[in-house]
Amino acid sequence: EIHQREYLSNGEMKQWEGDMHTVYSPVAVKTAEGYKRKVIGTYPVCTEIEAMESLAAAVAAYDNGRGQWPTMSVQDRIRCVEQFTHKMIEQKDLVVKLIMWEIGKSVADSVKEFDRTVEYIYATIDALKDIDRDSSRFVIEQGIVAQIRRSPLGVVLCMGPFNYPLNETFTTLIPALIMGNTLLFKPPKHGTLLHYPLLEAFKECFPKGVVNTIYGRGHAIVPALMQSGKINVLTLIGSSKVADELKKLHPKVNRLRAILGLDAKNAAIVTENADIDLAVSETVLGALSFNGQRCTALKIIFVHRSKVDQFLQQLSEAVGKLKIGMPWEKGVALTPLPEPQKPAYLKDLIDDAVANGARVVNEGGGTAFESFVYPAVLYPVNKDMKVYREEQFGPIIPVIAFDDLEEPIEYLIESTHGQQVSIFSSDPTETASLIDPLVNQVSRVNINCQCQRGPDVFPFTGRKDSAEGTLSVVDALRSFSIRSLVATKLNENNKH
Ligand code: G3H
Repeated sequence: EIHQREYLSNGEMKQWEGDMHTVYSPVAVKTAEGYKRKVIGTYPVCTEIEAMESLAAAVAAYDNGRGQWPTMSVQDRIRCVEQFTHKMIEQKDLVVKLIMWEIGKSVADSVKEFDRTVEYIYATIDALKDIDRDSSRFVIEQGIVAQIRRSPLGVVLCMGPFNYPLNETFTTLIPALIMGNTLLFKPPKHGTLLHYPLLEAFKECFPKGVVNTIYGRGHAIVPALMQSGKINVLTLIGSSKVADELKKLHPKVNRLRAILGLDAKNAAIVTENADIDLAVSETVLGALSFNGQRCTALKIIFVHRSKVDQFLQQLSEAVGKLKIGMPWEKGVALTPLPEPQKPAYLKDLIDDAVANGARVVNEGGGTAFESFVYPAVLYPVNKDMKVYREEQFGPIIPVIAFDDLEEPIEYLIESTHGQQVSIFSSDPTETASLIDPLVNQVSRVNINCQCQRGPDVFPFTGRKDSAEGTLSVVDALRSFSIRSLVATKLNENNKH
C-alpha cells in the first residue's frame, strides 16, 4: 500500500495533514465477507486553498513570460525534460505496477502504456526540429524581414483521464512544458497514486513553480482555479460536459485556449463487400481493448444486412475465446473495471436494449461479477435504445443491420460526436466513394482497420463534441504555443 501525504507545490514537497482519499483497486480479493475491492493506498484530498497556492506558484514561475522557464532556451528546457525522463524510467517497475493495480490494466498493456509514454516524449523532442524550422525561418515581404518564433501561452491546467492516466496526461504535460508554459497538474481520480513515484523527479528536474500537482475532488478545487481567470490553457481528456462547465467559469473564456480530448461514439461500417474475418478481428480489438474503455473504441457497428448473420456468428465466437481475468494473468484480454458504478451502468444499457427488442447474441454476454463485466454483443440495436447514442465506454458491442450505406452516414451526420469511423470493404471503388461523405463528419477515416489514436505522430483530434485543438507530437507543440514574429524593416542602415 502507498500512503501519499506529499504534493508538489512551488518547488517544495508539501506535507498534507487533512483528509485522505482511500484508493480501492478494481481487483477484488476474497475476504471473510465475500469479494472486496482491495485497498492499495491513500492520497491527499486538498482544498481550494492549496489549489490556489499552487496556481499562485505557477503564475509566479511564468511571471508574465519573464520567468526563468519561459525565457530559457528551448534546448535547456529539453535538457530538463530529458533528465526527468531518465528518472522516470528508473521508476518504471513501480509505475507499471501501480497502473495495473489502480485501473486494472493488464500487465502487458500497463508496460505498453509506460513505454509508449517514453517514446512519445522522445518523439516530441524530435519533432521540435519541425517547430525549429518555423523559428529559424525568415520571411521577407515588402521590405520587411520577419523571423517567426514559437512562444509559450502561460499557465496550463492539465487534467488527464483514468484510462491512460500516465500516457494521455503526458501527451499534454510534456509539450506544454517544452514550449515554456508552467503548469498545474491534476491526476485523474482513478490513476493518481501511479504519479507519486514521479513527484521527486518533477521537483528535481524543473525550476520552482514550473510543475505543481493538485489533488482532491475536482468539483471542489477546479472551479476556483477557472474563476481566477489566471489559467491560460485548459487541457482535459474527459467528458465534453465537464469541459463545457469548466470553460464557462473562466471570466474571459474567449481568451482561454482549450485543448480537449472528449467523448466519442466511433462507428464501424461493414459493407456487403467486406472481408468478414478482418472486420471481426478488428472489431474485437477496436471494441474491447482495455475493456472498451478508450475514447477511440468502436462503439457501434453497422453491418450490411446480407452479412450480418455471418458477422454476428464469427464475432460471438471470437468474443467467446477472450480470456477474462486478473491483470497479471498471461494472455488476459478483459480485466476488472476501475469505476465502481460502471457494471451497473452497463447492465442498465443492456437491459434497456433488451427491453426495446435487442438480444444478447453471445453466450454469457453482459454477466457481471464484482468489477468484471463479460462483453455483450447486442443485436438488433435501434434508435430507441440508450446504447444507440450513449458512449458505453465499456465492453458492449451494439450491432445494427443496414440496407443502404446512407443509413450509417446519416447516423454520423446526426451524431453529436465526430472522432473517427472505420470502413470495412474489399472493394476500393466502394471505400473511395465513402471517404468524402465521411471525412467531413469525423477527423479520421480508417479503412479496413479499427479506430485508434496512434501512431502518435499522426494528428489526433475530433469534430463536434469530440475534441478541441489537436494533439500528437508536432501538433501538441503547436497547440501549446503561439507563433510570434520579430519583424525588421530593411533600409540602407539595416540591411542585415
Ligand atoms: O481514450 C482515448 C485514447 O486516446 C485512446 O488511445 O487509441 O491509442 O487506445 P488509443
